[in-house]
Amino acid sequence: MMQVERLVVFEFRSGPQPERRSADRRHRGGWKASGELPKGVTMASKKLLGMLNDAIAGELQVSLQYMWQHVQWKGTKHFAVKDEFEKIGIEEMKHSEAIAERLFYLGGIPTTKPEPITVGSSLKEMLTADVKAEEKTVKMYKEVIALATKEGDLTTAHLFTEILADEEGHHDTFQSLLEEI
Ligand SMILES: [Fe+2]
Ligand SMILES: [Fe+2]
Repeated sequence: MMQVERLVVFEFRSGPQPERRSADRRHRGGWKASGELPKGVTMASKKLLGMLNDAIAGELQVSLQYMWQHVQWKGTKHFAVKDEFEKIGIEEMKHSEAIAERLFYLGGIPTTKPEPITVGSSLKEMLTADVKAEEKTVKMYKEVIALATKEGDLTTAHLFTEILADEEGHHDTFQSLLEEI
């Protein structure tokens, strides 16, 4: 009886290791080295890859823009909202990571260059620039979703649909704060 128990334990420990999670392999892009796409893998057009890189440049811009607006606070009203800038800045950095992972999977190289950053000096200047940035992003992400859907890249369309909801929330926050000044 004891021997059977020991055998069971041994088999459990020496058995096959659990398969790595698909997420670990998803972004390695090993197939790119061979130049051969496995059947069923999504192909993206150059236009779509370019739009993903434009999206990354915009995300890098606003992640820095909002973080520096968080740092450079002045006065009571700005003090009250400075943490909101930090929170949204971090969300934008996570967006840039998610889009870069998708772009890399599709065979592109993520840009390191942000779009021009507008920090502003007064709170009103900052929020005006931020509303403008979010409006531009919302418009562009709708175009990405439309093109990705047209190309059958449902994963990219889904990713941008999720991010778009965040961007609409950011726009709403900045617009509401701007109206209160
Ligand atoms: Fe974003
Ligand atoms: Fe945003």
